[in-house]
Amino acid sequence: MLAKPSESCNTVEVYGNDIPGLLGEVEAAETALREAAARDTEAAHGEAAYFDAVIKADQKIEPRDWMPDSYRKTLIRQIAQHAHSEIIGMQPEGNWISRAPTLKRKAILLAKVQDEAGHGLYLYAAAETLGVSRDELVELLLAGRQKYSSIFNYPTLTWADVGAIGWLVDGAAIVNQVPLCRCSYGPYARAMIRICKEESFHQRQGFEILHTLSHGTEAQRAMAQGAVDRWWYPSLAMFGPPDADSTHSAQSMAWKIKRFSNDELRQRFVDMCVQQAGVLGLTLPDPDLRWNEERQAYDYTQPDYDELMRVIKGDGPCNRQRMAHRRRSHDEGAWVREAAAAYAKKRAADA
Ligand code: 3HC
Repeated sequence: MLAKPSESCNTVEVYGNDIPGLLGEVEAAETALREAAARDTEAAHGEAAYFDAVIKADQKIEPRDWMPDSYRKTLIRQIAQHAHSEIIGMQPEGNWISRAPTLKRKAILLAKVQDEAGHGLYLYAAAETLGVSRDELVELLLAGRQKYSSIFNYPTLTWADVGAIGWLVDGAAIVNQVPLCRCSYGPYARAMIRICKEESFHQRQGFEILHTLSHGTEAQRAMAQGAVDRWWYPSLAMFGPPDADSTHSAQSMAWKIKRFSNDELRQRFVDMCVQQAGVLGLTLPDPDLRWNEERQAYDYTQPDYDELMRVIKGDGPCNRQRMAHRRRSHDEGAWVREAAAAYAKKRAADA
């Protein structure tokens, strides 16, 4: 018999010295698991049942596997929206590269904005494994038929906004995206691992900017507080509509694309930020923010979801400006795409 689970991590303490006996039992348990999996697969007459069995077993669906059309469409929608967000998200901060206060700050911000471009590319590549090309997705964005995150439609008014974006926006992105590393679709899950590592660097650089400002002169502290006041509620809204109004959550969670609901992640983010705001010496702009002993979580004021819907539909403070800039950059980059395509064609012909 296997020993009862114990708090200890020491195998000998838990199981005594009967290691060969233990190994025998582990082997028997593994064989039983393999047999059960084989039975499941045999019982899975057809591809749909195989897909269900893979999801149930918490394994990955890979590009060549059969998948329901709606699963494919949901993934394309979410991954494309995510990729577009990374690319549009370069604009609010790119705006500050030339105005960052020191050469070091400029270099850091430049590297960060480049990372976002890289994230967009990994994500477009992940979407391409689902049978859609990057060109098609970009066309859909430019035609206004695919979305990008609401958050990037807010302006960056001061240098402290760059700090607030790093701390709050990248912080929210991490809370939302770490669970995506366990998404059921392999290429998306794997892309997210690297993205999350880089996002965590981004979050820290934002925190460090705000920490410097909040411990600087009174004017710098006020600038940091002003930025946090402006970015708090839009960051909460990034997690999407409340669960009761979320169109896709239930199905996406059943498919293990999403692991947590919008509200669960929003709550996790609030709980994380309260402590960090304390270290920064800044206040979160919510008079009703308080610890709820029963729920073991903070009560907080919800963001304005009507505003979120307006921003998603294109009527935020910077939607028009962001899309106009994206279209202009796309047009100006046409010669680069043509040159790359001509070069690839020549290489192929030479080969
Ligand atoms: N901005 C824009 N659209 C949003 C949104 C937001 N903050 N939140 C929700 N929506 C849209 C959904 O896309 C959906 O629209 P659709 O039906 O027309 O496609 C609708 O509102 C209903 O919302 P749901 O809750 O039903 O949608 P989802 O189940 O897809 O959940 C999500 C929304 C939590 C954003 C989810 O799609 C997700 O986790 N996406 C991956 C992460 C992502 O895209 N993050 C964007 C930010 S990227 C980033 O922050 C970059 C970093 O560098 C800072």
